[in-house]
Amino acid sequence: MPVDPSRPYPLPPWRPLLRAARQREGRAPGASWLQLASVAADGTPRVRTLVFRGWSDEGALELLTDARSEKPVELSGQGQVELCWLFRKAREQFRLRGAAQLLSDGDAPEALNAHWQRLTPGGRSVWAWPHPGQPFDTAGPWPEVVADGEPQPPHLVLIRIQIQRVEQLDLKPHPHRRLCWDRGDDWVERRLNP
Ligand SMILES: Cc1cc2nc3c(=O)[nH]c(=O)nc-3n(C[C@H](O)[C@H](O)[C@H](O)COP(=O)(O)O)c2cc1C
Repeated sequence: MPVDPSRPYPLPPWRPLLRAARQREGRAPGASWLQLASVAADGTPRVRTLVFRGWSDEGALELLTDARSEKPVELSGQGQVELCWLFRKAREQFRLRGAAQLLSDGDAPEALNAHWQRLTPGGRSVWAWPHPGQPFDTAGPWPEVVADGEPQPPHLVLIRIQIQRVEQLDLKPHPHRRLCWDRGDDWVERRLNP
């Protein structure tokens, strides 16, 4: 595989397949939506949709969330997660497993600020709303936009997930193709029965 000098790590073999599936979705907003599953303190499962925000320089998958929501509490207790990413047009599912790390402004100020700047004014607004999960607050504030140049809120949190295992299920061929990669010193690929 050719080495890209701008990337300080070898590209995992599943990344081009994931990129190809994303590209088939075109401009559909759902192409960046994935489900994050975690385990709550009482051992019961939790799952919710998040927006994929990109890859870190070291190849970790990045998500953004609100420190006041439930998931950072769950992830700081038990950081093992699974992501499920469905690509409808490609008829492919990727399941990605790994360990989540929570980073707030004190830990990664440049990365967080870069994400904050990249958000649209509408996308930023949710961080200006009252405490998620509390009883509905009629007084708000409920802004629809947060303009460029507004300071980054202290409860903006970056979730970085170091991926350890990936499974792709492709429904297009017959029989369906199920590939699995495990990370050791290198990525090891296996084909499984679908
Ligand atoms: C399409 C879609 C995208 C979402 N993107 C995010 C996101 O990027 N970050 C986030 O924290 N919550 C996002 N949410 C909201 C979460 O699914 C969830 O409702 C919220 O974060 C509270 O979850 P929690 O109580 O488990 O922490 C999104 C919801 C939908 C429907």
